[in-house]
Amino acid sequence: MKIGIPRETRPGETRVATTPEIVKKLLGLGFQVQVEAGAGAAAHYLDADYAAAGAKLVGRDQVFLSDLLLKVRRPTKEEIQAMRPNSLYIGPIESCGEDAGIAALRNKNIQVLAVERIPRISRAQSMDVLSSQSNIAGYRAVIEAAAHYGRFFPMMMTSAGSAKPARLIVLGAGVAGLQAIATARRLGAEVSAYDVRPETREQIESLGAKAIQLDIGENGTGEGGYAKELSEAAQAKQQAALAEVLAQAHILIATAQIPCRPAPVLITEAVVRRMRPGSVIVDLAAANGGNCPLTEPDQVVVKEGVILVGYTNFPAKMPSDASAFYANNLFQLLKILVEPSEAGPVLKALDQDEITKAMRVGS
Ligand SMILES: NC(=O)c1ccc[n+]([C@@H]2O[C@H](COP(=O)([O-])OP(=O)(O)OC[C@H]3O[C@@H](n4cnc5c(N)ncnc54)[C@H](O)[C@@H]3O)[C@@H](O)[C@H]2O)c1
Repeated sequence: MKIGIPRETRPGETRVATTPEIVKKLLGLGFQVQVEAGAGAAAHYLDADYAAAGAKLVGRDQVFLSDLLLKVRRPTKEEIQAMRPNSLYIGPIESCGEDAGIAALRNKNIQVLAVERIPRISRAQSMDVLSSQSNIAGYRAVIEAAAHYGRFFPMMMTSAGSAKPARLIVLGAGVAGLQAIATARRLGAEVSAYDVRPETREQIESLGAKAIQLDIGENGTGEGGYAKELSEAAQAKQQAALAEVLAQAHILIATAQIPCRPAPVLITEAVVRRMRPGSVIVDLAAANGGNCPLTEPDQVVVKEGVILVGYTNFPAKMPSDASAFYANNLFQLLKILVEPSEAGPVLKALDQDEITKAMRVGS
């Protein structure tokens, strides 16, 4: 069975779906691996290293004719046209419902396993692409905040004067938020965090941050460990209760999201106006409308004297590690997907395992 690794073409995408190290492991499972020339270049994985690991370097047309295609971003219309009928695609589908791309894949009888639908269960942790990439996003968000902030994060006492520690608040304590807390603490900021799910309090405190608690008259815990969308009344209460504490912060790292829904507005324009000039808001929800309505996707803007960072692809800013984690996630998934045989690995029925069953799209 031939695995294909194409070069990603989405603007700003630097990651690649496998690395030379993982190529060796895929060969160990009995796969053949073909990599499009230059596929890893933006992530600093060289063609020569893929070849030395045992991959075959091929052109773009040939890579899309693989039996099993691994990607970092959803295939474009042209890519779906180039894909082999009856093949298998594993990667993101980046859609919450039916759309033209999913229909086009179905028309070619291409089976689809969407990596963002991997269930959040212990057995699937090593395959959990959302977690590995969110972890990177949380780290990188704090690094971006530090780079844009015109002051120190830690307390500094020098002969030229002293600086107070930055007051940093993380909104949303999921995978990205918890990593942001840990990173900001390592840099010496004074860190607090808030999440609508009460069970996050212990996790926030275990990382040495202060948990902000609000009475908004509703429990935000939804299904599968995710948050649910609050009623309008509870949202208004939440914004009002957060306003005072957020206005006093110097850095906000906003990570609050609800799957397949617009991101909740937690940082109102009125709050931004009250923040000290030079404060920084990094809004990881920018692609979904933002936790702050002033954020502009993929832009860094200054509004009301506050620097708003709206990058929508933080993992692409750390492509070497992001690709390595992603590649390993997919390798762990492939291990449960195939059975060895003399003639090479054989694909199991996709509805046989609860993980692959949950990932299936359009069939
Ligand atoms: N394999 C596993 O067991 C596993 C792996 C990873 C994550 N998880 C769990 O999955 C869940 C989702 O994690 P995620 O990081 O993907 O979440 P996410 O990216 O969907 O959301 C980020 C955070 O925003 C919070 N949020 C949403 N609305 C909010 C609001 N109005 N105000 C404040 N905060 C709000 C959510 O509660 C969540 O913690 C978590 O419970 C996490 O612990 C489990």
